[in-house]
Amino acid sequence: MASRRANGQYRVRGGAVLRGRVRVSGSANAALAAMCACLLSDETVVLDNVPDVSDIDSLAELLTALGARVERPAPDRVAVNGGGVNVLEAPVELITENRASFQVMGPLIARHGFASLPPPGGDVIGQRPIDAHLFGFEAMGAVIARAGEFWQARAPGGLTGARVFVDYPSVSGTQNIMMAAALARGETTIVNAATEPEVQALAQLLNAMGACVEGAGTQMVTVRGEERLHGATFRLPPDRIEAGTFAVAAAISGGDVEIEDAPVSVVDALVSKLRACGATVEASADAMRVAAGERLAPVSFQALPYPGLATDLHAPLAALLTQAEGVSVIHERVFDNRMLYVGELRKMGAEIVSMGASAIVSGPAPLHGAHLRALDVRAGAAVLLAALRAAGTTVIDDVFHLDRKYERLDGKLGALGVEIERA
Ligand code: UD1
Repeated sequence: MASRRANGQYRVRGGAVLRGRVRVSGSANAALAAMCACLLSDETVVLDNVPDVSDIDSLAELLTALGARVERPAPDRVAVNGGGVNVLEAPVELITENRASFQVMGPLIARHGFASLPPPGGDVIGQRPIDAHLFGFEAMGAVIARAGEFWQARAPGGLTGARVFVDYPSVSGTQNIMMAAALARGETTIVNAATEPEVQALAQLLNAMGACVEGAGTQMVTVRGEERLHGATFRLPPDRIEAGTFAVAAAISGGDVEIEDAPVSVVDALVSKLRACGATVEASADAMRVAAGERLAPVSFQALPYPGLATDLHAPLAALLTQAEGVSVIHERVFDNRMLYVGELRKMGAEIVSMGASAIVSGPAPLHGAHLRALDVRAGAAVLLAALRAAGTTVIDDVFHLDRKYERLDGKLGALGVEIERA
C-alpha cells in the first residue's frame, strides 16, 4: 500500500457559492478500528468503502510491520490477513503516527498473549490518556507493565471475560476492550461503553467474523468470547464527520449541496444545529440536501459523546458561526485542547475568543484571506471552511493533517465550484 503522503499547501479562493453533489467516503475512524480487528483472525478479512486517507496508510504499515499481509485490491477495498503476525512489539515511529494504532493492543494480547506498544500519537487535542484501555485488559487478567517508553501487556494463558467499568466512555478504549474480549474465555461486559456509531460498526464486523457482541450503541456492551474468529467481508459506514464538514461548507458559502451516501441516521445533533442556524436540511434514507438560509442565526452548542454533537465537528461549526448574526457560545466537553483553530480564524478576521473549554463567537465578522496552518485535522477543516467565505485567497500550510481523515478534499470541493489548488 502507498506510504504517507507528502506535506502540502492549499490555496483557496473565497467567495464561491457551493452547488452540486458530493459523495461521502467511508468512515476513516471506523475503518481504522476495523483494520485492527482483522488481527483477531488468521483468515482474510475484506473491508469495503475504506477511504483513501493517510491514517489508513500508516496503520497498514504498522500491521505489515507486525507480520500481517495488507493489500488494497481496489481503491476503496482493503484486505488484511493476520495469519502471519509474529512481531508483538510495535516500532515506535508507526505507533506514534496516529491514535488508532494503539488498537492493535487488544487483538495482540487476545490472540498472542503479549503486546508491547508505546503510547499512541494522533492530534494534540488534549491529554488523550489510555488508562481505560489498560484498565480493561487488566480486568481481563493481563499483567500491565511499563518498559521504558513501552506499555507491555502479558496474558500468556489467555484473557478471561470480566465486568469492566470504564471511567469515561472512550471510543477507542471501548473498541480495544471489545476486540480483546472477542477471544477471551467467557463473557465480558463493558459498563459505561462509548455509544458512537464507530463502536457499532466494529461490533457488526466482529459479529460477521463469528464473535458474539451485543448492546453496541448502548452504554452496556456484552461480548461472549469465542475460541477463534474467521474471515469476513464487511462494508464500512459513511463518514459522519466528512458529511458534517460538507454540510457546513454548503451553509457557510451560501450554497445548496446534495450530500450523497450521508449517514443520515447518526447526525441528528448536527442537523438540529444547522436548522437552528437557519439552514434548510432535507434528509432521505441516505442523502442530505443542505441549503443556506437568507441569514445565519447564532447557535450555542456543547461537544459531547454520541449522540451529542461530535467533538470532531466543533471546529467546523465554529467557522460557520463566525458568520452568524449575534453571539454563539461553544462548550467543549470531550477534549481539553480543541481550541487550536481559534488563533487561526482570528488571523482571518473572526471575532472569537476561547476561555478554557469554551469559545465565544461574535458575528458576522468579515473574513479575509491569510497565510495559515492546519494545526490538527479538524482545526484545518475549520480554516478551510472559513476560507470559502473569506475575501481573497487563503493559503493553508500543513495540509497533511487534513489528508489523515479527508479523502480528496480538494477534488470534492473543486467539483462543488471552489477554486482550490494544492501545491
Ligand atoms: C476517537 C476518534 C476521534 C474523536 C474521539 C471522540 C478515532 C481514531 N478517533 O478518538 O476522532 O474525536 O473518538 O469522539 O476513532 N479518555 C480517558 N481515558 C482513556 C481514553 C480516553 O479519559 O483511556 C478521555 C480522553 O482524555 C478524552 C475522551 O476520553 O477526553 C475522549 O477520548 P476517546 O473517546 O478515547 O477518543 P479517541 O478514541 O482517542
